[in-house]
Amino acid sequence: MEKIVSLCRRRGFVFPSSEIYGGLGSTYDYGHYGVLLKNNLKARWFEAMILERDDIVALDSAVILHPRVWEASGHVEGFTDPLVDCRTCKLRFRADKLEDSQCGRKPSKHPGEFKECDLTEPRQFNLMFETTVGPVQEAGSKAYLRPETAQGIFINFKNVLQLARRRPPFGIAQIGKSFRNEITPGNFLFRVREFEQMEMEFFVPPADSERWYRYWIDERLAWYLRYGLRRGRLRVREHGPEERSHYSQGTSDIEYLYPIGWSELEGVANRGDFDLTRHTEFSTTKLEYVGPDGERYVPHVIEPAVSLERIIVAMLVDGYDEEVVGERERTVLRFHPQVAPVTAAILPLIAKDEGMVSKARSLYEELRKRHSVEYDDNGAIGRRYRRQDEIGTPWAFTIDEQTLADDTVTVRDRDSLAQERLPIAGVRGWLDDALERDWHPPKGD
Ligand code: GAP
Repeated sequence: MEKIVSLCRRRGFVFPSSEIYGGLGSTYDYGHYGVLLKNNLKARWFEAMILERDDIVALDSAVILHPRVWEASGHVEGFTDPLVDCRTCKLRFRADKLEDSQCGRKPSKHPGEFKECDLTEPRQFNLMFETTVGPVQEAGSKAYLRPETAQGIFINFKNVLQLARRRPPFGIAQIGKSFRNEITPGNFLFRVREFEQMEMEFFVPPADSERWYRYWIDERLAWYLRYGLRRGRLRVREHGPEERSHYSQGTSDIEYLYPIGWSELEGVANRGDFDLTRHTEFSTTKLEYVGPDGERYVPHVIEPAVSLERIIVAMLVDGYDEEVVGERERTVLRFHPQVAPVTAAILPLIAKDEGMVSKARSLYEELRKRHSVEYDDNGAIGRRYRRQDEIGTPWAFTIDEQTLADDTVTVRDRDSLAQERLPIAGVRGWLDDALERDWHPPKGD
């Protein structure tokens, strides 16, 4: 994890936020390559969830919702973690995760195990960030930053049903920021206070909920394999009844083998009719499906929910590799080509050669209309390749002396390091085809 954090910082993927003010614990800013990576992951999720299907529509709901939403959802009352303070070291811990925490005075021990530890009794701490709507703090002005995007979907169920003319089974998907005042954030982006969720609520006839629940576990697992996570580092773990959230009739975590051990990447939950029933009760607006022949029911909901942050950590861990090539070490991020921040680099071999520069620039300008490509003429060619390896660029096109003679370029493959020559006029088509090819992790599953 340390190597990944340092690579992310060095290459400007992700770095600690508010650094010039000393930082703000566990908040991060995304630099250029981080933004490109996030955009690609969102696009791949959006394609799989919406563009490649007929039964799911998109939504972008507000971050600040009516405060009654969070009463209906159970968050005001129950979205809490038990918290203990240590009177000696003044640190705060989750009472249910003491075995994962380190004592502030003696890090080899867990809080409460060292003789100087003096823990308070656990008290419940609500994870929602509060804010005030309007200029005056008064009764009724309290609101919350959403702790999940899901509730914005439930409260729009009726709108979508009518406006998009849907009948179950159908889904509503959205991507957006969520906020949780986590007591113990950490492990880089794995647990942060501000994260970008990708959630989809799939509304089904009650009798079909178990079938759809299994379907969505399989679909989401297949998505991770499609985008190159190794099979051996993914598993599905079903929650026992004691572990499930208040709304859940069944939950399975798709877990990834992070450096901290097997941990939740994505959750798939069968939420039953909990949310629509509660919002009907609290808002007095009936949230149900009424069929053309008069049949009516409250649909049950299957929900796959994940954050970009957890996917990014999994992709970085999975793709990170170090190897020695020709007595030189290289660090490489073996991202799936459709996920990699930069798809191809365009490199004139000699930066001062006008002929090479002009051909390289015109190839770059052609490719950038459709792809994320980078032009780089800075430094020795070997160093330029290594820079691209480090950010996970799958292909590099090099323009050299031979290009001036016969209009061909070299394409270098990040994973195999194989090089072949192509006519410059065919590069665009070659890249389109290469992006469509199946890609498997080169180091096996
Ligand atoms: N709507 C259901 C829901 O929000 P959750 O298990 O609390 O369920 C869903 O969160 C997903 O959001 C998790 O599987 C994880 O991918 C991500 N997530 C939750 N808390 C997070 C945090 N503090 N930092 C990063 N990702 C988080």
